[in-house]
Amino acid sequence: MRDPLSKVIQSIQPSGIRKFFDIVNEMTDAISLGVGEPDFDTPWHIREEGIYSLEQGKTFYTSNAGLKELKVEISRYLKRRQNIVYDPDDIIITVGGSEAIDIALRAMLDPGDEVLIPQPCYVSYVPCTELAGGVPVIIELKEEDEFRLTAEKLEAAITDKTKILVLPFPNNPTGAILERSDLEAIAKVVEKHDLFILSDEIYSELTYLGEHVSIASLPGMKERTILINGFSKAYAMTGWRLGYAAGPSVIIKQMLKIHQYAIMCAPTTSQYAAVEALRAGDNDVKRMKESYDQRRRFLLEELGKIGLDCFTPYGAFYAFPSIKKFGMTSDEFAEKLLMEQKVAIVPGTAFGACGEGFLRISYAYSIEDLKVALDRIGEFIESII
Ligand SMILES: Cc1ncc(COP(=O)(O)O)c(C=O)c1O
Repeated sequence: MRDPLSKVIQSIQPSGIRKFFDIVNEMTDAISLGVGEPDFDTPWHIREEGIYSLEQGKTFYTSNAGLKELKVEISRYLKRRQNIVYDPDDIIITVGGSEAIDIALRAMLDPGDEVLIPQPCYVSYVPCTELAGGVPVIIELKEEDEFRLTAEKLEAAITDKTKILVLPFPNNPTGAILERSDLEAIAKVVEKHDLFILSDEIYSELTYLGEHVSIASLPGMKERTILINGFSKAYAMTGWRLGYAAGPSVIIKQMLKIHQYAIMCAPTTSQYAAVEALRAGDNDVKRMKESYDQRRRFLLEELGKIGLDCFTPYGAFYAFPSIKKFGMTSDEFAEKLLMEQKVAIVPGTAFGACGEGFLRISYAYSIEDLKVALDRIGEFIESII
């Protein structure tokens, strides 16, 4: 039989995040700080709105790009929170931010086009670029730069094939953000080299130090930016699978074609629930954010006590401590920790080779769980020094 698979799919590795969690599920008494999703239930009034839409028989497809009223609410939200004015028709509702990333890359890339991807970063940008025929070009971010992308690093990575820059801030896994001055310097380089930006702002609401600024709000950048956001993180709605992209209509129109043929429309029930989230969810976001911030501060303090040096995360819900001083690779450390102390955390290398020497700890867990896990990590460190 001939090979049923494409060469490109065979060259792509499965995500390194899941590996550990399959082991954890089989272990009794194991504790995980690994998964990147809120531990809160979706706020009740948002769930209720989804249920109500079902009761009313709203069980049909919506228009391909999404419910008009949801696009209007997103447009209002982006004006209110980021001061960017989007026509609702320049917004497309997607199956999570994940789909938005995929279809943006597929709509914009020709074979051989280069996509600049700052790492460590979320796991989907590289494979989605490859699946779209593009060539990922990695920019390694460093702890000494607070894991920020600098204009100099960007400039150095550009070739005449570069088309898109991925801006993954607030960052998963480092918790780094970019401030206005960082973005202004980056915007100059983007303009000079005629690039486009895929700005993944899924953690924008979860910024604890400084404020989140979207690059699309800077002069001349809206025309070059696909802004991606969604409901998973800020509203604790991961399972509802809802996100969106906002951008120049020439790009959004083509993304809509892919979405139309591959997906049809995002889940209808989720779209009704999301309208409620945007109309009346600000206090929920605030409450959850305060709780993450409390855990962030607790975790940082405790990491210090057990001897794990950690860059201060500004946003998202991850800490990225260094384990370089223990003379083990990230994989070895994470595997031994799991086997000896039954604590699962993700090796930094799951987010790119430059994550070597780091671990990603999610603090979207209760303080009680964090305490138990940190005690065990502390014991583990004592046993290896
Ligand atoms: C940086 C980042 N972008 C996008 C996503 C995708 O989220 P969703 O598809 O649930 O919106 C995630 C999920 O972990 C993420 O961490």
